[in-house]
Amino acid sequence: MGKPKIFVTHVYLGKFLERLKEKYEVVVWKDKNITREDLLTGVKGSVGIISLLTEKIDGEVMDSAGSQLRVISNYAVGYDNVEVEAATKRGISVTNTPGVLTESVAEEVIAFVLVLFRRIAEGDRFVREGKYKGWEPDLLLGTGIKDKTMGIVGLGRIGRWTARMARALGMKVIYFNRHRDEEFEEEYGVTYHTFDQLLENAEVVSLSVPLTDETRHLIGERELKLMKPSAILINTSRGPIVDQEILIKALKEKWIAGAGLDVFEDESQVPEDLRALPNTVLTPHTASATIETRIAMARIVVDNVTDAIEGRQPLCLVNPDVWKEKID
Ligand code: GLV
Ligand code: GLV
Repeated sequence: MGKPKIFVTHVYLGKFLERLKEKYEVVVWKDKNITREDLLTGVKGSVGIISLLTEKIDGEVMDSAGSQLRVISNYAVGYDNVEVEAATKRGISVTNTPGVLTESVAEEVIAFVLVLFRRIAEGDRFVREGKYKGWEPDLLLGTGIKDKTMGIVGLGRIGRWTARMARALGMKVIYFNRHRDEEFEEEYGVTYHTFDQLLENAEVVSLSVPLTDETRHLIGERELKLMKPSAILINTSRGPIVDQEILIKALKEKWIAGAGLDVFEDESQVPEDLRALPNTVLTPHTASATIETRIAMARIVVDNVTDAIEGRQPLCLVNPDVWKEKID
């Protein structure tokens, strides 16, 4: 019998997977942006799939792989691209990469605050376009950051690290989360608010919740209208958490002051309308894109895939029900 097959959907990941090759036949897709058709064919016969957040891994993909499929190891902390229920039903483990991108994503949130409030991207464009001709006292006046209020929606790992960095900048920090964490509040001097109170009081609203049915379009017209006209919205989570069309309207009509967006509703198509707005800073889903994080993510992805195949419960399992049944 040959070695069991692990299918890897993106050429970039190939270089991190040496340690899998001893025991497994590692088939790495030769390119980036695998098509649905190539994905359905590529996974055939595999016991493990290493996937990216850009690929929809649903029941059809699982069935195309075959009943020997044990694990879908997603190279991301978010796993809204995987139909977890379909995997659980088939006894397939789904895993992600939490913990190792906490700081990098939170750093990007703080970067958005600095760049937007201090108008750094606008200033950069101003100089490059040859418009700068000498110092003026009222040129590109921004907003100071100390004593402003950071509102964090979702106090997971990323939300917590963001809170700590914002405190270090001298900001007040308020948060909304399903569960209060009074110990964290006390230790870091942050305050719990209801969702609406947070929107009404924050100068920065930063989203650090996963995309679920509950959080889809969490930020729409009502929420943007509750925010202060001086406030900025930061989204480093998933695009569909914000109703993008309404956000564009809100930015055009100045319901809010600006937005820092690392994610978009359709990432293959960032609307011209949004790109044309001066009060936005837009990045191409790179909040977790540091060398340190990418390497650490690869290590976790490999651990997850081998643990699941070799009969150990993976540390970063998102559907523990699969293992409960095995243990019962
Ligand atoms: C990036 O968006 C991730 O979920 O890891
Ligand atoms: C993700 O890692 C989070 O818990 O925020």
